[in-house]
Amino acid sequence: MNLLTIADLKKDEIDGLIERAVFLKERALRGIPHKPLRGRVLGLIFEKPSTRTRVSFEAAMFQLGGDTIFISHGDSQIGRGEPIKDTARVMSGYVDGVVMRTFGHEIIEEYAGYSTVPVINGLTDLHHPCQVLADILTVVEEKGGYEDLKVAWIGDGNNMANSWIEAASVLGFELRLACPGGYLPDEGILKKAKEKGTGKIELSGSVDEAAKGADVLNTDVWASMGQEAEREGRLRAFKGYQINEKTLTLANKGAIVMHCLPAHRGEEITDSVIEGQNSIVWRQAENRLHIQKAILEWLLV
Ligand code: CP
Ligand code: NVA
Repeated sequence: MNLLTIADLKKDEIDGLIERAVFLKERALRGIPHKPLRGRVLGLIFEKPSTRTRVSFEAAMFQLGGDTIFISHGDSQIGRGEPIKDTARVMSGYVDGVVMRTFGHEIIEEYAGYSTVPVINGLTDLHHPCQVLADILTVVEEKGGYEDLKVAWIGDGNNMANSWIEAASVLGFELRLACPGGYLPDEGILKKAKEKGTGKIELSGSVDEAAKGADVLNTDVWASMGQEAEREGRLRAFKGYQINEKTLTLANKGAIVMHCLPAHRGEEITDSVIEGQNSIVWRQAENRLHIQKAILEWLLV
């Protein structure tokens, strides 16, 4: 069993993970030890930088009684061109599960095809499922559920947007995305999510249209990891695709503002909004730990 995309999951599985994360969080905050993964080892193979994903997975594994081994692109044989399929088969003999952060989604698919232990997607160019599961947990904590919510996505149609689209499709909430032309979400993911799912997923004509009446305002950087060379062009294309005080006034009263972080203040979000009372970005980040404990228990016990 792997977790490569949100669409891999059924609604009751996501609900189960959220329920379990709430339970584990409450126990952890009360200081009750819970170590079902004693003797288990999680490998982390990261070809891009990370703060939250790496540290929250490592801390989760330690708190559950297990250990981790971190491998970066530069200090493993992957960086020297050892085939992914060979790495996957070798690693399967050493560790009980793997979190992988890489570029093309086909790389993790190939890895998972050869791995005999569970593979968890820690971000690819196309998907970021663990972040979106933590986000849904945060929405549930804050709003008591997700069913009747209107979620707005403002900015790049990137890996985060794609995973939110799949979440809306599986869980059935409304998602409106405002993305500039040329930076729309993945066409195939959008089409499939609209056809198969129960969510109301729409591309909006403007930021204002998406933000109007939203319960959740969500954004991410204009240039993702690996797109550094496109930064100047993206700064021009995304002008106006920002969550700011005006966007907040269009949204519903009490709307929550989300960002997976790291953020670029003054670009996709203003400093006053990310630091303001509607922002729940720090809890989103903290919830990576709790939802990933639920994921690790589910896949590794
Ligand atoms: N949000 C997130 O995945 O952050 P990192 O890149 O720091 O892991
Ligand atoms: N879209 C961003 C998310 C970072 C967590 C990226 O891929 O760089």
